[in-house]
Amino acid sequence: MSEEITYANLKFQDSNKTETTQDLQKLGEKAPSVPSPLWRQSALILTLLCLLLLIGLGALGGVFYKTLKLEMEKLNKLQNIKEELQRNVSLQLMDNNRSSENIRNLSITLQIVATKLCRELYRKEPEHKCKPCPKEWIWYGDSCYIIFNHFETWQNSEIFCSAQNASLLQVRNKKILQSIKFFQLYDFWLGLSPGNYHMCLDDIIASSAWFKSNISDLNNKNCGYIYGLYVYYVSCSSKKQVMCEKMANSVKIESILMSEDLDGRM
Ligand SMILES: *[C@@H]1O[C@H](CO)[C@@H](O)[C@H](O)[C@H]1NC(C)=O
Ligand SMILES: *[C@@H]1O[C@H](CO)[C@@H](O)[C@H](O)[C@H]1NC(C)=O
Ligand SMILES: *[C@@H]1O[C@H](CO)[C@@H](O)[C@H](O)[C@H]1NC(C)=O
Ligand SMILES: *[C@@H]1O[C@H](CO)[C@@H](O)[C@H](O)[C@H]1NC(C)=O
Ligand SMILES: *[C@@H]1O[C@H](CO)[C@@H](O)[C@H](O)[C@H]1NC(C)=O
Repeated sequence: MSEEITYANLKFQDSNKTETTQDLQKLGEKAPSVPSPLWRQSALILTLLCLLLLIGLGALGGVFYKTLKLEMEKLNKLQNIKEELQRNVSLQLMDNNRSSENIRNLSITLQIVATKLCRELYRKEPEHKCKPCPKEWIWYGDSCYIIFNHFETWQNSEIFCSAQNASLLQVRNKKILQSIKFFQLYDFWLGLSPGNYHMCLDDIIASSAWFKSNISDLNNKNCGYIYGLYVYYVSCSSKKQVMCEKMANSVKIESILMSEDLDGRM
């Protein structure tokens, strides 16, 4: 019974309120509308949906966070590997550098040993294959020398040496001076510019008189020649002996091994 009454009351009140609302709307004023049961249901469903959405979002966020963390860890690992690889590569490069420097040093040493060995072989056999000079040339110090057994004018001597890709004897340093003294030369043209200065052979090293370029006119000029330990000047058209000089090549290592004589001796 009491339930019925309450319902009736509520209904009465409701209709009462509806009337009031209608009145107010008639007056042109807005008033909060009273939610209908359908509306309430919709609101409830919407709220639930919202909640579900929030939960979903939360879960998604969690998953996202976990994935992100995993990916970051992977990225860090990759970064570490990359750095390690870079370190390894630069270590490898340094190692390679050291290796190539070792190889370079070894080949220099090998060249020195080969040259020494070749000098020994050359001493015993003047035309040994390892000789870094053309046939019939003398190997002394770092140079090759050849004596031309004719007496020639200075100009012809110079032409002859040029044709051999060599030059007339020039004494530019102590090593060559030593060679010249060793050869004990008398009456040999020197590669000096024309002039007139007699002097000791030892004094001529520092001289700037060493012949450099073509001399066109040698008429009535004096050219230098060596006589033992002295340098004298005489008319360029007189005839003296010729000795040419050029730099020796480097000793070819294979040329030492190529020799049959070496095999026989060893
Ligand atoms: C770097 O070199 C070390 C030692 O040589 C080696 O153990 C390591 O595996 C190398 N790292 C990479 C990423 O190759
Ligand atoms: C290796 O040597 C070269 C030159 O010889 C140099 O430029 C380079 O920096 C060196 N590398 C290392 C890793 O030492
Ligand atoms: C190579 O030779 C040079 C000079 O002779 C020396 O300073 C260098 O340490 C040598 N390098 C090696 C790797 O032996
Ligand atoms: C001189 O050198 C040139 C070019 O380098 C070469 O063609 C010629 O054969 C050489 N002559 C002699 C006699 O060595
Ligand atoms: C010397 O001069 C001649 C001609 O005057 C020229 O053919 C030759 O190339 C010159 N030689 C040098 C070494 O300058």
